[in-house]
Amino acid sequence: MHGVWSSRWTFILAATGSAVGLGNIWKFPYITGENGGGAFVLVYLVCIALVGIPIMMAEVLIGRRARMSPINAMKYAADEAALPHAWAAIGWMGVLAGLMIISFYSVVAGWAIQYIFTAASGTFTGITGESAGGVFANFLQSKGTLLLWHSLFMVMTLGVVAAGVTRGLGAVARVLMPVLFVMLALLLVYAVIKGNFSAGFAFLFDFKFDKLTWSGVLKALGHAFFTLSLGMGAIMAYGAYMPAQGSLAKTVITVGVLDTVVALVAGLAIFPIVFAAPGLEPSAGPGLMFISLPVAFGGMPFGVLFGALFFVLVTIAAWSSAVSLIEPGVAWLIESGKFSRATATSLLSGVAWLGGVACIYSNNWLEDKPGGVFSFVFESLDFLTSQVMLPLGGLLIALFVGWFMRRAIVQSELDAEEHPLFDIWLFVVRWLSPLLVIIVLIAGLVEKFQ
Ligand code: PHE
Repeated sequence: MHGVWSSRWTFILAATGSAVGLGNIWKFPYITGENGGGAFVLVYLVCIALVGIPIMMAEVLIGRRARMSPINAMKYAADEAALPHAWAAIGWMGVLAGLMIISFYSVVAGWAIQYIFTAASGTFTGITGESAGGVFANFLQSKGTLLLWHSLFMVMTLGVVAAGVTRGLGAVARVLMPVLFVMLALLLVYAVIKGNFSAGFAFLFDFKFDKLTWSGVLKALGHAFFTLSLGMGAIMAYGAYMPAQGSLAKTVITVGVLDTVVALVAGLAIFPIVFAAPGLEPSAGPGLMFISLPVAFGGMPFGVLFGALFFVLVTIAAWSSAVSLIEPGVAWLIESGKFSRATATSLLSGVAWLGGVACIYSNNWLEDKPGGVFSFVFESLDFLTSQVMLPLGGLLIALFVGWFMRRAIVQSELDAEEHPLFDIWLFVVRWLSPLLVIIVLIAGLVEKFQ
């Protein structure tokens, strides 16, 4: 037994902590920028509503039903449905995806930690775009520094996961999430007052479709999975610690809405700041947060303070997500009966740490692609996980719950014996989300590789 969240709210905060991360604050703004803004945001929102949230309910449902790690939860649920244990492949793929994600996630979180200090030291005051690009490029060349922050971040992650569900994951979420919301609100106020709010707003919500391609749609779909921590078992593992009472549907919808609000607020804070500085491009790519934003902060009153604050916020958000990337594997190792939580966590953190080292040392960051910060290993890990493995995992979860779990079980887990929305949800999970995922996966991959 791994423990139970102390209340329904702890689950909400922990799941939101997992969902809200680099995906919302770093990735969402830059992929939106790269894909032309408004139309991409609209597709992303549709994916959240029609695919993400319904599948999230399915994933949490399996976890809460079985009360085990995703690998064993899938075995349990397969037994209940008289299906082969091969369904546990969903859990296995998830553990692998988690390790692949954390490999680059922790490195980027390390960038954010460094930038707390760089921003606080006043380096960015009055800086030009070119020099900010130089600062970032130099930083990416100092592998030792990258390694140091990546290692520190992994130790922070290990510490929380090793402390367990109640004293670690739950306690941290209850403290960090409110802090994060307050900081984000402050930043939004700052952007509204000091930034070019109307330009930022228009960029996010002007739904023009001419720039949208199938591979852009696949990115939006993949991001919906990534940002909700879906399709790899993180949210299933958290569901396993959910108290039995309390509405699963409402809880999950709350998490989905909070995550979406944070992404939109992050966009509404970041783009007005970027547009306020002359010559900055919203389409700057992964460097958006590390080049454009510092320039913008550097030209604004109290920029040193708010710049540093911003990177503290990013670090916190990344931290509460990273813990959920290894929890599925840790829970499984503990269940095998051979490992204590501390040993299990150390083992997987070690693997994740090596993954990060591979990311750091295999990359000639800026040489591979002029202006880019991703090179092959980094980009492949990101692409394979968010645009292939997570949608695939989500698809299988939807099919499993929609078609194979006994209807009575699903209904009782959802407390929905009589609920009129139940049939709609079931239709979505059986037909709509799987079809959307299949179409977008195929069309997106074909377009990308042709
Ligand atoms: N949802 C996290 C984010 O947006 C990333 C994540 C993905 C965490 C998958 C756990 C599982 O940053």
